[in-house]
Amino acid sequence: MILKGNTLKVINVVGARPNFMKMAPIIEAMNEQRERFQHILVHTGQHYDERMSKSFFVDLGMPKPDIDLEVGSGSHAEQTARIMVEFEKVCLRELPDLVIVVGDVNSTMACTITAKKLGIQVAHVEAGLRSRDMTMPEEINRLCTDVLCDYLFTTDHFANENLAREGVSMEKIHFVGNVMIDTLLKHKELARGMGILEGWGLKPGEFATMTLHRPSNVDDAATFRGILDALSGVAKVIPIIFPVHPRTRKMVKRFGLGGYFSTADSPQGLWMTDPLGYLEFLHLNMHAKMVITDSGGLQEETTVLGVPCITLRENTERPITCEVGTNFIAGNDGVAILRYTSMVLNGEMPRGTVPERWDGRAAERIVEILGGFDLSRRAAWSGH
Ligand code: UD1
Repeated sequence: MILKGNTLKVINVVGARPNFMKMAPIIEAMNEQRERFQHILVHTGQHYDERMSKSFFVDLGMPKPDIDLEVGSGSHAEQTARIMVEFEKVCLRELPDLVIVVGDVNSTMACTITAKKLGIQVAHVEAGLRSRDMTMPEEINRLCTDVLCDYLFTTDHFANENLAREGVSMEKIHFVGNVMIDTLLKHKELARGMGILEGWGLKPGEFATMTLHRPSNVDDAATFRGILDALSGVAKVIPIIFPVHPRTRKMVKRFGLGGYFSTADSPQGLWMTDPLGYLEFLHLNMHAKMVITDSGGLQEETTVLGVPCITLRENTERPITCEVGTNFIAGNDGVAILRYTSMVLNGEMPRGTVPERWDGRAAERIVEILGGFDLSRRAAWSGH
């Protein structure tokens, strides 16, 4: 394709499940300005199972990736290195003006480093989040990504403050809101009408949902067992629906923990399912009594849905969800888990409010800002 003089060539990068809902509204907003943006979608293939990847493209109405790097799983070094090697080839072939990365997964960091070393401008969506926990691979990914990026799009005042404290120049920081919430607000009504609860014999407010996949919770047998002991107690009072991440399923098998889960066809006790699609899971979460999780995105989604969230981590990079939202940090200690879940069951959790600019327009703001891209900052090769 021949680019017109003021058309920006952009590579949008996705790799893992939580990236898809963040990128979908950005693509949509760019499609509104086809004169200004020519964009291609690169999927690194970090997540590749049908239920971890393709089903999200269908649910979110996203275009198929133009390029799939098919890197798959591996150790952090292997996965990061494979992404870098393959992404460099794409950059050299496509010669983009700008690369956009989202979130904090290995794909985010790997593509940022690769692009910057080629002199390409990079924009990071969801910049500035910090857990200050260097045992989290995501924290390392966030730090490396943010220090390199040219555009830092933030979700809240904590992120702005973190970046400012790290010495980032203010002109790079843009407080735009939350693209994940753009996607949630767009799909909420569609998800509400899905009728999954009836199919499973569940009633609104009479079940909980849970996700668990952090290495700190599931890679150590004693820790994982302690969490399941506590949650088995909770599941006697209220069924807990647990769509299981592939890494967690592997650990359940390895540690012989299958006995904790119900195998009946209808949800009861601690009930394991395959990973669910975006709309199905949103449907469940909006009707749940509470969500128990170690995910980052769910802390944000529950804040907007007004559903209590019990976070099974010692810290969060999303403190805004505790400051104004419905999120409570329980760690992975059984006593704390039981204390917080009992508070919810007893109706003692306060209701939260929605953070500033989590209003469904974050992607629109991002695209407007990128529309002002200074063409003289194009990589030297582009020769436009
Ligand atoms: C990754 C992200 C994490 C994010 C999570 C969301 C990093 C460092 N971690 O963690 O921040 O919260 O995605 O899901 O980038 N697997 C499959 N099929 C798949 C994908 C993975 O079976 O489609 C299994 C493989 O055994 C793999 C393991 O899950 O080794 C872990 O996958 P990986 O992408 O390395 O990390 P996640 O735990 O998914």
